[in-house]
Order: sequence, then structure tokens, then C-alpha cells
Amino acid sequence: MNSPGDIETLKRRAAAAAVEYVRDGMVVGLGTGSTAKHVVLTLAERVRAGLVMKGVPTSRETAELARRSGITLLETEDEWVIDLAIDGADQVDPQLNLIKGGGGALLREKIVAAAARQLIIVIDHTKRVPVLGNPMPLPVEVVPFGWGSTARKIEELGIKPVLRKRDGGIFRTEGGHYILDLHVDRIEDPVSLEARLNAIPGVVETGLFVGRTDLLIVGTPQGVEIQKASRR
Ligand code: A5P
Repeated sequence: MNSPGDIETLKRRAAAAAVEYVRDGMVVGLGTGSTAKHVVLTLAERVRAGLVMKGVPTSRETAELARRSGITLLETEDEWVIDLAIDGADQVDPQLNLIKGGGGALLREKIVAAAARQLIIVIDHTKRVPVLGNPMPLPVEVVPFGWGSTARKIEELGIKPVLRKRDGGIFRTEGGHYILDLHVDRIEDPVSLEARLNAIPGVVETGLFVGRTDLLIVGTPQGVEIQKASRR
């Protein structure tokens, strides 16, 4: 069960299990990416069946899909009290630390995850790894001003940053920033790496989500598996 179609089925099943945690009246953080898309579509089905909820989208793409599907969105942050955020991830380690940002939405995703009372991460089984790192690069969002100098500071940590490109130009996030993709063999100590990267001027945010996940829902060929974070 590893063809693209099969993986989509596993993501959809895991997304459906995550949506079961949404209760009437909740404000729900809506992630970005192909798995989060299944979450939004399944949530929209429940809304059509009578569920009352509001969403906080982490990207324009998610906002458009949610609106088209009939989910009411909170437009201003003043109204935010996010009960639950549901999002995907690029990699998950056994402690439920994550690499996110493959789609470039990591900054808003992290803000929403930090604001939420609970974070549920939904993945298919191929995203589980013993240790975070290669072959998945770690995305780091940086300010365009002086980005080359920021990249050199990252190189001083012994890590090779690669400026993300798209369609022949430099990729820009929704916040107008650049992304440096960091190729790290094994991220043995994500807490320390996150702190060292965040200490570099010009770094806006990293795609490391450490100690933030409350619940992991994994679509596997054998069924949906649920893992609770051990710290809570
Ligand atoms: C978006 O920037 C990312 O953080 C996504 O959450 C992550 O890339 C997972 O996306 P998929 O569900 O499409 O794999």
C-alpha cells in the first residue's frame, strides 16, 4: 500500500479520525498541505451535517478551500481562542517532534500550533522516522534582507543551506520571506538545533516543531494508529 493513490487513502482515513476530535462550538486551526486538505474536506462534511465550528486557516490555499467548502473562518486574530489545531507534517520522530514546511507554510502553522490548546498531527505511515533529517530537508524561513549573510551563519553551524526556488525564481512565503532548505543527516538534538537557528539574526522561524504535538494520528495499511505525546 505505497502507491500515490494508496497513500492518499491512508491520509484520508487518518484525517477522518482526527476530525472526530472536533466538537460543537470549537475554533479549529486548519493546517496546510495534502493531508490537511483531507481534514478540511472531512470537516466540511460534518459542518453540512450540522457541526458548528469556526476555522483559522494557516495559508491562503487552506482558506480558499475551507470557504469554498462552507467552513466559516475567523478573519481577525482578536477573536482567536483556538481549541484544536489539526495539521500534517513532513517527518515525525518517536517523541512526536516534527519537520514541517515542505509547502512553505511553516510560520503560520507554528503560530497557530502555539496558539492552540491542543495539536493533532495527521500523517501516513511513510512520514515516521527514527531520527529527523535527510532525506527530508529542514526548511528555515528567513528575511530576504541579508539572506546570504544569514545563510553563512547557518553554514558556520556545519549545515549546508539551499535557497528554495520555484518556477525559475526565488520561492516566497505568504509572509514575503525566503526559505532555506537545510540538509542535515541526523537531527539528534532538535531542541538545541532549533535554539541555535532561532538565535541567528534574519531567521524568522524553523520548520522544527519540538514538543508541540499532543496526538499523532497515522494512516497505515493495517489501519489508523493513534499515539499520545508522553509528556502530557
Ligand atoms: C506545509 O508547509 C507543511 O508544513 C505541511 O504540513 C507538510 O509539508 C505536510 O504536507 P503533506 O500533507 O502534503 O505531506
